[in-house]
Amino acid sequence: MTAAPATIATWHKDRVRENAMGPAHAPIWRHFIDLVPEGDLSAKTVLDFGCNQGGFLRMLHAVRPFRRGLGVDIAADSVARAQAMKGDLPIDYAPVAALDAHAGRFDIAFSHEVIYLVPDIAAHAQQVWAALRPGGVYYAVTGCHTGNKLWPRWRTLIAETTNVATQDRSLDDYGEAFRAAGFEVGVKRFGFSGFAPYGGYSDYYPTLEERIYYYSEAKTLFRLVKEG
Ligand SMILES: C[S@@+](CC[C@H](N)C(=O)[O-])C[C@H]1O[C@@H](n2cnc3c(N)ncnc32)[C@H](O)[C@@H]1O
Repeated sequence: MTAAPATIATWHKDRVRENAMGPAHAPIWRHFIDLVPEGDLSAKTVLDFGCNQGGFLRMLHAVRPFRRGLGVDIAADSVARAQAMKGDLPIDYAPVAALDAHAGRFDIAFSHEVIYLVPDIAAHAQQVWAALRPGGVYYAVTGCHTGNKLWPRWRTLIAETTNVATQDRSLDDYGEAFRAAGFEVGVKRFGFSGFAPYGGYSDYYPTLEERIYYYSEAKTLFRLVKEG
């Protein structure tokens, strides 16, 4: 297992693709927010692990305003863009190392399509556990796992087009790593029920059947509770 790079400039090698990722993920984030039962976040402090350019927390604040937010990522230029775009929102964006200064601070943590990129999943589980308050909850989404029938193609595509190695892990590997860190683990299909965005042919989804399969079946949501 190789360690995560301390920092990279951007996740995608191609900056046009990096800039396009947030808008492409926006309908998916909206569905993610709708799956979260915690409705009133006005007194809550939230974390987005692997925030890239910060769009998820900006959307979350617009839909369910929270007290304070922190987004962290290893992609330094993307974090800088997030920080530049936050306006007056009560959000900071920072390198992942900044998380160590916030032990026990967060009520809710999120990650969207990040855990499959973290080299040491046990260390990641412990890091988020440490960042949460007792009673805190971590919602982690990924469709990038060995049970995804598209994964054999995707792992190569992602390796070629991004600056971070992918990890071959099953959903059980995630469940066990989070359980071992102390979380009470719940899991469900992400089950995106909206219209899957289609912008023409994609190497990720050569057919529309594959696109629908990914969004509605392969993508999975973990609910990880740090009991108080
Ligand atoms: C597929 S992108 C998802 C970005 C964002 N969560 C979204 O939904 O659009 C994966 C993100 O995880 C970040 N990432 C990869 N490895 C990481 C690590 N070890 N720690 C923190 N962030 C990481 C990448 O830099 C990238 O921004």
